[in-house]
Amino acid sequence: MAHTSTPGASSSKFFQELHAALQGILPGEWRYFPSLGSTNDEALAWASAGAPDFSLVIADEQTRGRGRMGRSWFTPPGAALAFSLILRPEPAERDRIGLFSGLGALALVDALQPAGVAAQIKWPNDVLINGKKVAGILVETVWSGMEVESVILGIGVNVSPESVPPPEGLNYPATCVHAEGQNRLSRVALLQLLLQAVLKRRTQLSLDIFLRDWEAALAFRGEPVQVWLGQEQIVLGRILGLETDGSLRLGLPDGSAQVIHFGEVHLRPDR
Ligand code: BTN
Repeated sequence: MAHTSTPGASSSKFFQELHAALQGILPGEWRYFPSLGSTNDEALAWASAGAPDFSLVIADEQTRGRGRMGRSWFTPPGAALAFSLILRPEPAERDRIGLFSGLGALALVDALQPAGVAAQIKWPNDVLINGKKVAGILVETVWSGMEVESVILGIGVNVSPESVPPPEGLNYPATCVHAEGQNRLSRVALLQLLLQAVLKRRTQLSLDIFLRDWEAALAFRGEPVQVWLGQEQIVLGRILGLETDGSLRLGLPDGSAQVIHFGEVHLRPDR
C-alpha cells in the first residue's frame, strides 16, 4: 500500500496512527496532508492522473473545505475527519452512481453502530445524531466521454467539539461524535471502521439489502418534511421511502406521491 505525505508530515502523531491503522485495510494508495485546501480537489486531480481504485486523500485540516450547493465546510486541525475516497466504478456500478452518496452515509451509520451511536441519514446525504448534523458527504465525478471514470466520495465528520462550526450561519443544528457520548472513539478508529463499512456496502450496491438498510436509517421517515428544490420551491410531504436509484419518494397531502431526485435539494422537518 503506497502512500505519500508532505515533507515533515510523517512525524505527526495523526500520520503515525493513520499509518498503523491503514495497513492491510486499504486496497488503494493514500496521501496525507497536515493542511490542504480540500481533499475533494486533491482527489479529483489525483483521479484524473490515474489514482488506483479505493485510494484515499486525508487531511488533518482543510482551509477551503467544500460542502454541497457551494457551501463551505469547516475543518479545523486536530478535531475532524476529512477525507476523500477515489472509487473507480466497475461497469455494473456505473448505472448506480446515484447510490454512492447513500453508500457513504450508510457506511458512517454502520461505523458508529458498534460505538452505540444510532445515527440517521437526512436524505440525501447528511448524517445526524440525535437530530443534529454530525457529517456531510460530497460526491463528485470524473467523466471520460460518456462514462463516469471516477467517483470522489468526500466525507467530513465532526469528531471532537472544536470541529463543530460556530452556530452563526449554520443552516442546520450541528454536533460532533464526542458530544454524543463517544469520547473514546478516535478519528483514526472511526476512519478504520468507516473504510471497512464502505468496502462492505459497496459490494451490496445492486442488492435489496442496501436500499432496505438505507431506508431504515432515514431520518423523519413517515414524518412531515419540507423539501427545498433550489432556493425557492418547497414541496411539503411525508417521507415514504426510496426509489431503486436512491431518489426520495414523498407522499403529498392530496394522496399522490412525488419522486425527488438528487441535485440542488435539501430537506428539513416541517415543524
Ligand atoms: C455537505 O454537508 O454539504 C457536504 C460536506 C462534505 C465535506 C467533505 S470534508 C472532505 C471532503 N473535502 C471537501 O472539500 N468536502 C468533503
